[in-house]
Formats: sequence, C-alpha cells, structure tokens
Amino acid sequence: MGVGVAGLTLLPDRRPNSRRFAERAPDRAAVGADSAVLDVAAGTGALALTAVGRGHQKVTAIDRSPDMVQRLRQRLGPFPGCSAEVMDARELRYPDHRFDAAFSVFGVLLLGADALTAVRETVRVVRPGGLVSVVHRAGPVGGAPVFVPLARAIQRLGDPEVGSLPLPVFSDFLEREEVEQVLVDAGCVDVQSEEVTEPFSLPTARSLNAFLRIIPQYNAAISRYKDEFTQILDQEISRLDLGERGAQGRIASGRVPE
Ligand SMILES: C[S@@+](CC[C@H](N)C(=O)[O-])C[C@H]1O[C@@H](n2cnc3c(N)ncnc32)[C@H](O)[C@@H]1O
Repeated sequence: MGVGVAGLTLLPDRRPNSRRFAERAPDRAAVGADSAVLDVAAGTGALALTAVGRGHQKVTAIDRSPDMVQRLRQRLGPFPGCSAEVMDARELRYPDHRFDAAFSVFGVLLLGADALTAVRETVRVVRPGGLVSVVHRAGPVGGAPVFVPLARAIQRLGDPEVGSLPLPVFSDFLEREEVEQVLVDAGCVDVQSEEVTEPFSLPTARSLNAFLRIIPQYNAAISRYKDEFTQILDQEISRLDLGERGAQGRIASGRVPE
C-alpha cells in the first residue's frame, strides 16, 4: 500500500512509472518467449527490460537518443540475443517482417504529426499475423509530467546562461478512438485497447538525472549549480499536483494482416 500525501501516492516500490505500464502491455499480448520483440522509442528500456525479465531472448530496442541507447546497451549487455540501436522510429533500418511483435510505450504516439509515420514503420517491420502494441497517456498524468517542475526550477534560477524551458502543456493525451485509429490507419487489423490506471510514484531529481541529461538547459543548470539545483528541482517535484487517480494509460494493440 502506498501512503497518500497531499494528493500524491508515495510508494515503497520505486519502479519507474513507465515500467508499470510496460509490464502490463505484454500481459495482453501473449507473445512467446522465443519471439523476436522490438521496443520502439525505448528510452532506458522499460519494455525491453520487462521482456528480458520474462525470459525473452531476442529483444531489440531502438531510440533516437544516443544517451538512452548507451544506458540500455549496458543493461542489455548480459543478454547475448538482445541489443539496442540509435535509430529514428520514422525510418527504421530493418527489413519488412523482421519481428514477431513490436511495442512502443509512451513512444511513437508522442511524435505528433509524425506519429502515424512511425507507427506505419513499426507495422512494416512486424511479420503478417504479428502484434503491434502502443501505450499512450489516457489522461494528463502519466508520461512525463516532471517537465513542469523542471521548467519551474530552471525559471527559479533566473540565469540567462542556463536559459529557459517553456512549460509544456499536458493535453497531449489521446481519446480511445484516436489511439485505435492510428493503428488502423497504419494497417493493423483486430485493433482493440483498454485504459489502465497505475499508481504514480514521485521521482526524485537524482533518479531522473539520466533522463533529464538529454535536455541542454538541465545540463547547464547542473554544471553551474549542482546540489543547489537538485534541491530546487526536488522542491518543485514535490509540488506536483497529480490528484488521486494515479496515471492513466491506454494500451492499444492490433495485428498485422496475414
Ligand atoms: C517519454 S520517453 C519513453 C521512453 C520509454 N519507452 C519508456 O517508456 O520509458 C520517449 C522516448 O522517445 C524517444 N524518441 C523521441 N523521438 C524519437 C524518434 N523519432 N525515434 C526514436 N525515438 C524517439 C526519446 O529519445 C525518448 O527516449
């Protein structure tokens, strides 16, 4: 059980939030352990590591960020059939039908106008009869609300050398029909989805370090203010008002036509 504080749930379980959803996606997919699995926009590998943890031996992960891929390579290092590559989801360097299943957790559907291109690419590299599954926010909390405290913390420094980070608007969650339609438009059949709610555990500035390093303003703030900035960021994170509902996500999946 978690402990509620000012509308937040502080959990003893420190799994990253995307990991909670990544663990639920394959449950619904019934993908065999000998299947070749692709994790698209894998980040540090919430889905890829879940698959490996469940005995999958052929897991490939791609992400556009070399930093993310470097970390993931280290994590996948002990598993010989698994790999991570720097690659753009909009232009996958794999032949058609290379994988049995592909997942993207808080990944391709965040690409805005390019989301459909990326989902089409994902469908292209999955074999006929194979599975494509995407997870996206189904409400304003869940993906990366930490950008709000980050932007506020940077603003508090008031240092032009660090710069500013515009406050993102978290209205980028999609309705059920929209998520399912992307899969249909990308060529999937038997498309279905369900909303799932997971407790949202607050990150700390330090635990986010690897993730935030891809943001230049964060690097500038850390290099000039180190512990002071980490403290300010922690204060802003603790001000996050996430409500009591937890994080809502939608797991949608479809099959590549035979
Ligand atoms: C919100 S993170 C989610 C990461 C991971 N799937 C997870 O659930 O923890 C989104 C990821 O998409 C990656 N990304 C953004 N645009 C991309 C693109 N065009 N191709 C591949 N990866 C991309 C980012 O580098 C980042 O790691």
